[in-house]
This record gives sequence, C-alpha cells and structure tokens, in this order.
Amino acid sequence: MKNIDTTLTQTASTPSSKPATDQFYEDVIAGLTAMPKHLSSKYFYDANGDKLFQDLMNCAEYYPTNCELEIFAEKTADICEAIIGDGDPFDLIELGAGDATKSTYLLKYLLDHKADFTYLPIDISSNVISYLNITLPVTLPGLQITGLNGEYFDMLEKAASISNKRKVLLFLGSNIGNMQPGEADAFCRKLRDHLSPGDMLLVGFDLKKNPKTILAAYNDKEGITKRFNLNLLERINRELKGDFDLNQFEHYPTYDPETGACKSYLVSQVDQTVNINNKATISFLKDEYIFMEISQKFTVAQTDKMASNSAFKPVHYFFDSKKWFTDVIWVAE
Ligand code: AVI
Repeated sequence: MKNIDTTLTQTASTPSSKPATDQFYEDVIAGLTAMPKHLSSKYFYDANGDKLFQDLMNCAEYYPTNCELEIFAEKTADICEAIIGDGDPFDLIELGAGDATKSTYLLKYLLDHKADFTYLPIDISSNVISYLNITLPVTLPGLQITGLNGEYFDMLEKAASISNKRKVLLFLGSNIGNMQPGEADAFCRKLRDHLSPGDMLLVGFDLKKNPKTILAAYNDKEGITKRFNLNLLERINRELKGDFDLNQFEHYPTYDPETGACKSYLVSQVDQTVNINNKATISFLKDEYIFMEISQKFTVAQTDKMASNSAFKPVHYFFDSKKWFTDVIWVAE
C-alpha cells in the first residue's frame, strides 16, 4: 500500500489465478529481456517501497501530494457540492484508497451535510481495506462503508452488483500519470464502460510547470527517489533470488517539457551480468539503461482531450494556489 497518498495503482495486482511471485517473475524476465530493458513501476510498492514513497511525499522537492492535499483541504465544500448535485443518493468509490487521507476531507463534509452516500474504497491490499473498515466508522461516526479488496475493475463490477445508486469515482494522486498516454486513455475508456450517463469521475492530474521544479521532484537531494527506484532491484534480489549489485546502477531522471514525460531510468555503470533465481542471466552493457517509470505531466487541454476521448465531459476544475495540480470532475456522457 502507498500510505498517506491515497493511491495504489490497479496494475499492482496480479491475476487471481496466478501466484503473485510467478507473475512478478514473469514480468521481470519479460522486461529485462526486452529491448530496451524495462521494469514496471507497479512493483515499486512492497513494504520498503511504501515507506520510501511516504518519505518522498514528505520531502521538500516532491510537491504533488501537498498540492493535492491543499485542494482537498481548501476546496472541500466546492468539491462536495459538485458531487452532491441534486442530492440523489450515491456511491463514492475510491480507486486505490490507501489510508484515505484526502478523501477523509470529503467524507467529513458529506456526513456533516447529511448527504446520502456509501463510501466504497477499493484497494488491492486486504490490510488497507480491513484498516479502513475498522477505523473510518470510529473517526467518522455514521459513515456507511463497504471496503472492496481486489482489482479495480473486478471491484467496480462487484460494486455495481451490490448497489444501483449513481456512482462517483475518485482516482487521485496523479496515478494516471504513471500510465503511458495511450494506456491512460484506454484506462479511462474502461472506467467509462463501468459507469452510466451522469455518473462522475474525480481525477487528479499533475500539471506541466517549470521543468526544473518537475525534475527536482524526481531527483531530490536526499536521494529518496533514487532509493525508491533501486528498491525494485532489491525487491528482485529478495523475492526472486536475484543478485543485482545496487552500487552498479545509477538513478537517471529526465523531464521533457515538450511532451510532459518525466521518466526515470537506472543506468548500468559497468558491463555486468545479473542472475535471477538461477534460471535467467541478464547481461548489461556499461551505460545500458532500465526504464523504470513514467510520471506524465499534463496541460489542462490535454486532460480535456482525454475526457472527450473516453466519453466524459469535464465540468469542474479545482486547482491548488500555484496551479501546479488539478482535480477535475468528469461526468459520464
Ligand atoms: C504514485 N505516483 C503518482 C508517483 C509519481 O509522482 O509519479 C510515484 C513517484 N515516483 C517517483 N516519485 C513519486
């Protein structure tokens, strides 16, 4: 689970038919034998990765979490009034709820204003769901909550099978930026397929801004982002019996202001081979890289385009005071 920041990406999950380690192994081998080499950032979030991500969110250079928190703290009433609309009962469904820090602002307001809703947090971590099911009714008396543990789309189907109320989805934290642009469009279209006209999606986007600000957020002075990336190699060593020498890989972040793509790589410092589980040997040339993650940055116009590509209409935009981040309400057409 990614603590505090609400998110845990859908893709962190594995098909239920296959043990998680098998899927992890297959994905790692497929990625490291591909050209160019790549690993999926969905695997960043083991217990160490969660802790590092939490450290990142508290570090001076990593601005997105604070920007989005500011939106939720300062614009609570406006967001909630837009969600409540005419007052019809609704299900508030959060994709990758984590510890629900941001959504708690909304939940409090909605309860205080007697909105008729049920909160359905979805998370791939059963610990997260048990934690929310137990703690939220205590901190928020009167809250109706049905935690759903599993993959986003499976759980959206489950949500639809237990309630036919209108739906308001939350997809926060600019997790959409961790998908390649085409994937993000396809993901939104799939979300739309699980909704009915008039349902809503509140989605967070990190916006384009001064390139130095963005690059610094992914190249913090303390080296937390570097450790966050290297942790995946460490995870491979631990869980898949790999023998990566972490000292032989360098963290290399880039930001292209033209495309808005912020990308992280690990670059091999020497010619070397890495053995995984005594089954696969991966060769690296000096300066060869592993593509680790994309954190796409957007213009508002690009988010509008994504909405229209997936049959949504953007109806409300909420910004932090610096206009570095936006949470947008899209209505399903
Ligand atoms: C979770 N996600 C939105 C973060 C981001 O900004 O792309 C993950 C992250 N990677 C490096 N720093 C933070």
